[in-house]
Amino acid sequence: MNDRKTKIGRNIMSVLRTPQPEQAAALTDLCLRSKAVWGYDAAFLQACRPALTLTADDWNDSDLQVAMDGARILGLAQVRGVGLTAELDKLFIEPEARAVGIGRQLFDWCVGAARRRGATVMTIDADPGAAAFYRRMGAVDDGVVASSVIPGRFLPRLKVELGSGLTA
Ligand SMILES: CC(C)(COP(=O)(O)OP(=O)(O)OC[C@H]1O[C@@H](n2cnc3c(N)ncnc32)[C@H](O)[C@@H]1OP(=O)(O)O)[C@@H](O)C(=O)NCCC(=O)NCCS
Repeated sequence: MNDRKTKIGRNIMSVLRTPQPEQAAALTDLCLRSKAVWGYDAAFLQACRPALTLTADDWNDSDLQVAMDGARILGLAQVRGVGLTAELDKLFIEPEARAVGIGRQLFDWCVGAARRRGATVMTIDADPGAAAFYRRMGAVDDGVVASSVIPGRFLPRLKVELGSGLTA
């Protein structure tokens, strides 16, 4: 248990903790609900489902963290990677819990998790709608990367230099 309570907007008390594998299906659903805020159609979201599906392997080969308000899951973050480069794999906030600071809280956790994995840089293959959020968090643009979901679609890649003094 690694509780870290933060009182944030709209009277939400967000507590960070490691989720349990039994929560995989609920977390997958959260990712899909969250992704939908950018207005994607049902076919695109269905195509994204495999990439957004959590399985038991995620608990073995990555670091996961959820933001909770009581029993309610408000957001999910996932960091993976070995060596000097870590990847922010997932950062998804429950739609009605956006814009109150939970994204920042989980992003800061990602920075700490990447450092604990020994990385000196954390990369982010961002949804185009989220790129400006990552820039606000201090990430810088680092080209584009081909989407693993839709051939011919390219996503902004950003990176965070972990020695740059960001706190976590
Ligand atoms: C992108 C996302 C993670 C941001 O989370 P959030 O909880 O709404 O963000 P926060 O409330 O912590 O915002 C922190 C700061 O970023 C800014 N910000 C948030 N979203 C932003 C956006 N889309 N564009 C520009 N700035 C943004 C906020 O204004 C705030 O700025 P401040 O420091 O001046 O107050 C969230 O909108 C989300 O889950 N989106 C859908 C799923 C998604 O695309 N995830 C990313 C996958 S790569």
